[in-house]
Amino acid sequence: MRYFRWTAILLCLIGITACRQDTPRFRIGVAQCSDDSWRHKMNDEILREAMFYDGVSVEIRSAGDDNRRQAEDIHYFMDKGMDLLIISANEAAPMTPIVEEAYRKGIPVITVDRKILSDKYTAYIGADNYEIGRAVGNYIASRLKGKGNIVELTGLSGSTPAMERHQGFMAAISHFPEIKLIDKADAAWERGPAEVEMDSMLRRHSKIDAVYAHNDRIAPGAYQAAKKAGREKEMIFVGIDALPGKGNGLELVLDSVLDATFIYPTNGDKVLQLA
Ligand code: FRU
Repeated sequence: MRYFRWTAILLCLIGITACRQDTPRFRIGVAQCSDDSWRHKMNDEILREAMFYDGVSVEIRSAGDDNRRQAEDIHYFMDKGMDLLIISANEAAPMTPIVEEAYRKGIPVITVDRKILSDKYTAYIGADNYEIGRAVGNYIASRLKGKGNIVELTGLSGSTPAMERHQGFMAAISHFPEIKLIDKADAAWERGPAEVEMDSMLRRHSKIDAVYAHNDRIAPGAYQAAKKAGREKEMIFVGIDALPGKGNGLELVLDSVLDATFIYPTNGDKVLQLA
């Protein structure tokens, strides 16, 4: 009899613990714009940090660089009644109305890394892309000793990091009259478009001294195109992100594919703490 009583108490305790895990007190939806190693690192950091908080559950959706899919993801989270949303807007203008809609519904919204064109959100967290652009501009100008032709391959032109990385860069090189930005194209944050755009830039320009790539996927795409044309030694390649790991920015610098890369922190732990 006593044995049965203890078994019953034990089963109850297990039940309570399981119940607490099944019904979180706070549910967070994360609407990521893209699906790449930088995003994966941030997502992993968010999920690990969530484990430090009792009763917090996190669901992450990735829109694969598609504004419509990201709007659907945000609708999905609203329909599910999430308690808070974390959003990295694929492109600022198309994503603004849907983010405003969630905010007006009373859901706290944290925008991360990529901004929207409105102040209808609760908080923003991310690195200073204007400053990064400025630092790259100063670095390339000094590497070229104040004289030379630069081409710029940007991230998706409707996303705020691409806009700010360009503006900061222009501000820096404006102090060097013999440094010229001779061409600029949208490489949509990805290697494939970078290769295509660089290919046509190489045809247009007989002298390129530096390539300013908005991230470390664009930079090796540009390098590949230059290598195919037998011109990769004529210029330096500079990227942004500086991720560790196979095929990422740090390795590309160590392998002398890139001259330099600038750190763009993922900081998923800080994002979750803010949430
Ligand atoms: C990852 C990424 C990074 C870039 C950032 C800008 O999805 O493309 O490579 O630095 O987004 O938002």
